[in-house]
Amino acid sequence: MTLQDKYALVTGASAGIGEDTARVLAREGANVALAARREERLEGLADELASAFGVETLVVPTDVRDEEAVEAMVRTTVEEFGRLDVLVNNAGVGVGGDVADVTTDEYRLMMETNVDGVFFATQAAIPHLRETDGNLVFVGSFAGQYPRPGNPTYAATKWWVRGFAHSLEGQIGPDGVGVSVVNPTEVRTEFASESDTAFEDHFDPGEVTEPEEVAEAIAFAASQERSTVHEIDLYRRDKFDGW
Ligand SMILES: NC(=O)c1ccc[n+]([C@@H]2O[C@H](COP(=O)([O-])OP(=O)(O)OC[C@H]3O[C@@H](n4cnc5c(N)ncnc54)[C@H](OP(=O)(O)O)[C@@H]3O)[C@@H](O)[C@H]2O)c1
Repeated sequence: MTLQDKYALVTGASAGIGEDTARVLAREGANVALAARREERLEGLADELASAFGVETLVVPTDVRDEEAVEAMVRTTVEEFGRLDVLVNNAGVGVGGDVADVTTDEYRLMMETNVDGVFFATQAAIPHLRETDGNLVFVGSFAGQYPRPGNPTYAATKWWVRGFAHSLEGQIGPDGVGVSVVNPTEVRTEFASESDTAFEDHFDPGEVTEPEEVAEAIAFAASQERSTVHEIDLYRRDKFDGW
């Protein structure tokens, strides 16, 4: 199992789990294409990874809610890199809470980012992953495995991700593509900053999972040559306390 000289595309690479995933993939020798909306952050990360690890980097500013932009993201990556071995579907948002109060804009933001964006990217990447016997990694969530009374809409987007990923595993696994889902519990990132306190400010260091831990799990799934890492659950150790 190796990521050396592979070509990977990571969505949501401007912060949190995606940023650290790009870092770990590059550390392991993979060339990385970085996608998100905040171009300046992607440029900074690209420079850092190229000089620290000597890998090829590519910045593909993308809003994953925009189907044409996502197609262009995959097309540009394959044109520049010549191939695609790994897609990490990581970009995602969680906003709002009580269903009675969720605004239509909040609902659409989560559905368009967490569901539509994942669908568009996956669809565009499949032909290229079939060519390389590559790996497709989805960032799911504990909220996609158990009910989340605090934000049922967000939870439902992550149940969709898992349902889609595992069904797709049955469809493209026989073609040689690995399909994995990585489910974290709380991670100290900018998550929730759109409508609330970011998790990195809400939780103290050591209280919950750090993004680099999730990144290592994603890299393990992405490095498989023959097997599929079906699902990795990475939970804070006290998650079931008082469950
Ligand atoms: N943190 C947690 O506790 C936790 C737990 C379980 C699962 N997750 C999942 O982990 C994934 C990453 O979240 P995170 O915790 O790393 O949060 P984060 O620090 O807020 O990072 C989110 C990333 O997604 C990108 N993004 C958001 N909307 C986008 C859009 N429309 N187009 C392109 N990129 C977009 C952001 O970049 P731009 O703003 O620059 O576009 C950013 O790079 C998400 O799928 C989330 O649901 C998080």
